[in-house]
Amino acid sequence: MEPLGATTVFLVICVSCLLFFSAWRKMSGSGKLPPGPVAFPIIGNTLQLNTRNLPQSIHELSAKYGPVFTIYLGSLRVVVLYGQEAVKEALIDQGDEFSGRGKLALADKLAKGTGIIFSNGERWKQLRRFALTTLRNFGMGKKSVEERIQEEAHFLVERLRNTHERPFDPTIPLTHAVSNIICSIVFGDRFDYDDQKFLTLIKLTEDNNELLLYSQWDTCMWSHSSPAKQTPFHFHYTELRIFVLERVKMHKESLDLSCPRDFIDAFLIKMEQEQQNGQSEFNTENLLRSTLDLFLAGTGTSSTTLRHGLLILLKYPDIEEKVHEEIDRVIGRSRSPCMADRSQMPYTDAVIHEIQRFVNLVPMGVPHAVTRDTHFRQYVIPKGTTIFPALQSVLGDSREFPKPEQFNPGHFLDENGAFKKSDFFIPFSAGKRICVGEGLARMEIFLILTMILQNFTLKSPIDPKDIDITPLPSVVVSSPKPFQLCVLPR
Ligand code: HEM
Repeated sequence: MEPLGATTVFLVICVSCLLFFSAWRKMSGSGKLPPGPVAFPIIGNTLQLNTRNLPQSIHELSAKYGPVFTIYLGSLRVVVLYGQEAVKEALIDQGDEFSGRGKLALADKLAKGTGIIFSNGERWKQLRRFALTTLRNFGMGKKSVEERIQEEAHFLVERLRNTHERPFDPTIPLTHAVSNIICSIVFGDRFDYDDQKFLTLIKLTEDNNELLLYSQWDTCMWSHSSPAKQTPFHFHYTELRIFVLERVKMHKESLDLSCPRDFIDAFLIKMEQEQQNGQSEFNTENLLRSTLDLFLAGTGTSSTTLRHGLLILLKYPDIEEKVHEEIDRVIGRSRSPCMADRSQMPYTDAVIHEIQRFVNLVPMGVPHAVTRDTHFRQYVIPKGTTIFPALQSVLGDSREFPKPEQFNPGHFLDENGAFKKSDFFIPFSAGKRICVGEGLARMEIFLILTMILQNFTLKSPIDPKDIDITPLPSVVVSSPKPFQLCVLPR
């Protein structure tokens, strides 16, 4: 018999590794995992996935493996839920089991399981409940959240007026306005748009957001986890902490227990009430992290949705005109839009829903994890496994939204022009982890968009036919392609 060549030995080792890994995959957990492509040790399915457009790769895999399948991002096992039935069954019908937060490496290191987004268990339940209650306005000062948004929308309109019909990129004005709404809720007041402290805060949050994206990929692809990428993150995080800690100190000095002015006051009062409870989750670290979470989760999301919305309306002036007509009929020109108007504005409501559906802002959702070994359909998913609820698969379902790749407000209107709800409308996800800021975001989008359109007609510097509204592919938040617009006073 011929001696084995080096290549043969190498091949034998590779095949053995593959068989071993494949056996481990099947054995880990006491039952059968959902199916999926063959994964290689260490690199998992990385080579089989288009990491620049993971949502597209996931879509293609679902055609082969069905609505529940397993992939390996590096050595991280991920079960993907694809389609309305699978997402609903998991996040709603088996809500408790699927309510864990999946691991994001860098965020885990910095947040250390504090705050709302990255926490789990009892801590998460308590902090989440508190944030929801506070954002809903129970116990937060004299000014309602709606008034805070209206106030900011006025400042935004004035800023847009000052562009004097010249083309501009709306990214910064929208980011500043949305971020200022969170400032008003958290710190009690807004900042001037040129306030240096405010601009620093936004810069730090934006950089943090960008690095959070790396964080997600850190977990998945390890290619971005170089120390060089982590250093600025640590630096910005420390600066953000100092900024918020200063505000907390100022709040403590002027706190009136009977009259909370904002989120920080409400949290400080809760800390006071729970002083005797050694297990309390209401401490400075969780205050700090919850505050940062509201900034991180609440700025880029709403402002990017509004930016998509403006681009889409530039592309379809006929749709913009119908919204103008509805605004003129229901609100007129002499008072500000308010939330009570929305129920009388089915067309505008449908346009906003369609914007959120079409832009598919968080295509893969935010990673969940199962909190215990979980029987799901005919499978067993081991405790701690990361779950991707593919929101894109629900928002783009052609059974509910005929021609889902087209922008059509008719997706949310019945034959009489009344607003039509849909169970497939889940841009904020669903179940126990559903976005804490859903109510706030929906108010922001409605009030800011209607206020802009009450005051201006949008005009594109290029022919609307040439505008491409397709969102740029992304794992975390899908942005529109960069664009400019002019706003003409009405
Ligand atoms: C258009 C705007 C927004 C969209 C599309 C959006 C979407 C989402 C999604 C998909 C999640 C993940 C839910 C899950 O884990 O299943 C989420 C979580 C979250 N969002 Fe939003 N969001 C928006 C605006 C906001 C705003 C304005 C705030 C802040 C006030 C906010 C705060 C949060 C928080 C704190 C979480 C974590 C919830 C938890 O882990 O329990 N979001 N959001």
